[in-house]
Amino acid sequence: MAISKVGIVGGGLMGHGIAQISAQAGWDVVLREVDDEKLAKGIGMIEKQLGRAVEKGKMEQADADAVRGRINGTTDYGELADCDLVVEAMTEDLDQKLAMWAEVDAIVKPEAVFATNTSSLPVIDQAASTSRPDKFLGLHFFNPAQVMPLLEVVQTVTTSEEALALGNEFGGQLGKTVVAAKDKAGFIVNRLLVPYMLDAIRAYEEGFGSIDEIDVAMKGGAAHPMGPLTLADFVGLDTLNSIAQVMFAEYAERRFAAPPTLRKMVAAGWYGKKSGKGFYDYSGEKPVPTDLGL
Ligand code: 3HC
Repeated sequence: MAISKVGIVGGGLMGHGIAQISAQAGWDVVLREVDDEKLAKGIGMIEKQLGRAVEKGKMEQADADAVRGRINGTTDYGELADCDLVVEAMTEDLDQKLAMWAEVDAIVKPEAVFATNTSSLPVIDQAASTSRPDKFLGLHFFNPAQVMPLLEVVQTVTTSEEALALGNEFGGQLGKTVVAAKDKAGFIVNRLLVPYMLDAIRAYEEGFGSIDEIDVAMKGGAAHPMGPLTLADFVGLDTLNSIAQVMFAEYAERRFAAPPTLRKMVAAGWYGKKSGKGFYDYSGEKPVPTDLGL
């Protein structure tokens, strides 16, 4: 089945980026958020990125306008009805995702394919809750979706070859490097990256270095674009904490356990860059390491 319209459920950190690149690839996009405020925020992020692309001379104003014009924001699931592909990019909470699919499955045309951008939940748990487990797969993007080259494409035990082919073609047309990942919690990247970020927090708790020493060390010593604590702030500490909970529940291994510092920061509402405070305070001109009293 050829794709002409893509639905994105969730316009947050990941969803807005997936909506933007889908529209840039030429598809009509329906971006669904829970309320007008969240929708305006998601659309605002897209407009900001398109504006930057024009400023930098990477895109003509007319093309940016055309991309924006292809994105239809809504709070109504009904607008997804004639989408060929619906990608879920909600909070990492299985119950919320299942409640959403129950509604969307009843509205969207039966031949459409569904995909989850889950970071850590096995895909089959969502696929099996719908009436179309053969047309359900994982499409795992990386933040920022506009820039990161990889897309993990996840086939569950029920995903048909046709749905898998559609996922691969979607990734290819987005210009992503597509890697087939097994339906194992965390897939390939988060299986390796999440324990690394959690371990950086433990190294900090154990006094191996200060926040910026750990980040400077990994940037300079391992040529990473961001140090692990900056990356944790960038991913979102609430998201990292949720992923850790899911992966620890699945594998019962210490490497996936959320360190106490992470849990306390999330309890305090310090979600990292998006909330203005995490391992760094982002309120000034430059990020400043937070005094966590350790
Ligand atoms: N949207 C669009 N473009 C963006 C962007 C965004 N949100 N953020 C950065 N860019 C673009 C910039 O416009 C710039 O483009 P240009 O080179 O054409 O001018 C380019 O990316 C580089 O940006 P900057 O010069 O501002 O900054 P950096 O060179 O520091 O790059 C970065 C920023 C690309 C975010 C880089 O720091 C990086 O790669 N960091 C690591 C990101 C990472 O590891 N992501 C994966 C997280 S894990 C995940 O997502 C999985 C999930 O399940 C948890």
